[in-house]
Amino acid sequence: MLSLFRPDPFVVETLDSDQAAECSSIHAASFAHPWSPAEIAGLIASGAVIADGVFNGRTNQLGGFVLSRCAADEGEILTIAIAAKLRRKGLGKLLLDHHTARLRSGRIRLLFLEVDQSNEGARALYRRFGFEEVGRREAYYRLPDGSRATALVLRKVLI
Ligand SMILES: CC(C)(COP(=O)(O)OP(=O)(O)OC[C@H]1O[C@@H](n2cnc3c(N)ncnc32)[C@H](O)[C@@H]1OP(=O)(O)O)[C@@H](O)C(=O)NCCC(=O)NCCS
Repeated sequence: MLSLFRPDPFVVETLDSDQAAECSSIHAASFAHPWSPAEIAGLIASGAVIADGVFNGRTNQLGGFVLSRCAADEGEILTIAIAAKLRRKGLGKLLLDHHTARLRSGRIRLLFLEVDQSNEGARALYRRFGFEEVGRREAYYRLPDGSRATALVLRKVLI
């Protein structure tokens, strides 16, 4: 029998501060040190931050988001997270594709980020995007058990 099942379509759109609570709950489920809705709303409202979300085009529910702070011709990804139940479906890639295109059109030449050395999934995603390691910060992250983890500093040339 012919199956009529079709996966939901996802679209990337610019975030606004009203969506900060949804971002905050995805962030809290993704990182050991959650950011409050107020902190995220403040970042989204900041003129220096580019904020994109990936939405289910049928339900309009937020599936993930990314925030980058820009200064002159450089940007830094402050955070990126996809809702746990939607991971490994290509949404992180879709979101980063749109986000880097948007940064490029804003004349951002270099994009930086920090990633926990042990975060294999995120590192694999960044490798696919052509980020290269340009530095490391030993004992940079404080983990919930009190131990410390190394941050890698990655960079991608956008233009
Ligand atoms: C990292 C994160 C954003 C990736 O989002 P995602 O939607 O799951 O990623 P995608 O499905 O678009 O993956 C694209 C590619 O990245 C790589 N990748 C992503 N997650 C991976 C994982 N857990 N293990 C190995 N490779 C992975 C793969 O190459 C994948 O392509 P494939 O599925 O065809 O093999 C998501 O896992 C997440 O939100 N993690 C928690 C928050 C976090 O760690 N953020 C990064 C902080 S620096």
